[in-house]
Amino acid sequence: MRKKIIAGNWKMNMTPSKTVAFLNEIKPLVANEDVDVVFCVPAIDIIPAVEAVKGSNIEIGAENMYYKDNGAYTGEIAPDMLVDAGVKYVIIGHSERREYFAETDETVKLKVLKAFEYGLTPIICCGESLTQREQGVTIDWIRMQIKIAFQNVTAEQAKKAVIAYEPIWAIGTGKVATTEQAQEVCAAIRECIAEIYDEQTAAEIRIQYGGSVSAASAPELFAQADIDGGLVGGASLKLDFSKIVNYNK
Ligand code: PGA
Repeated sequence: MRKKIIAGNWKMNMTPSKTVAFLNEIKPLVANEDVDVVFCVPAIDIIPAVEAVKGSNIEIGAENMYYKDNGAYTGEIAPDMLVDAGVKYVIIGHSERREYFAETDETVKLKVLKAFEYGLTPIICCGESLTQREQGVTIDWIRMQIKIAFQNVTAEQAKKAVIAYEPIWAIGTGKVATTEQAQEVCAAIRECIAEIYDEQTAAEIRIQYGGSVSAASAPELFAQADIDGGLVGGASLKLDFSKIVNYNK
């Protein structure tokens, strides 16, 4: 039985001091033992966030990292910096990184491998645009993204990975995919993992849905056979996020 994983993605929001105040307030509200609760926060908020959630069930994640160990890469964050700061998860290949910061399936692949090398759990994002959905190529597109992201990843590593299926047209738009659409793609991703590896790996890997998840839409989405939680943007900046975490209460 896969444990649900519900992760907030703060994007470029929250100062370090707001981070501490918010996490202290939400900490007691998200103590749902059925769910792994993660907040992926901006790099500058990581250290105060890790400190603020000590002793709680919340883990802290990063929103990005570079695929090199260290070196002359001004402005980038190295994997060992995240590990040393107490980070457990890292979002890789979010559609905003792909769209605004030139990330490609190729860099996603390198980052996924680097994350595993350092013992970080990647939350690997994939998703189609509205045009792709309308052209009927959603599943083909997602399968390609998954196949590239998992190149050279072992089955043992893959079992620990988290995949976030986020239709781009549903991100920050208030337009949630229907449960059928979300389930269909998440099932296709699991099937693709079974093809690359085996049934066991496919059964263990956790697949989130992301894109305008709210307290209202969460229960039905998370009840789907292949949806193991959510990657939540806007709604993770508010105390109401606790209602999403407690979707089963
Ligand atoms: P949203 O963002 O919940 O605000 O749509 C989700 C995401 O981009 O991870």
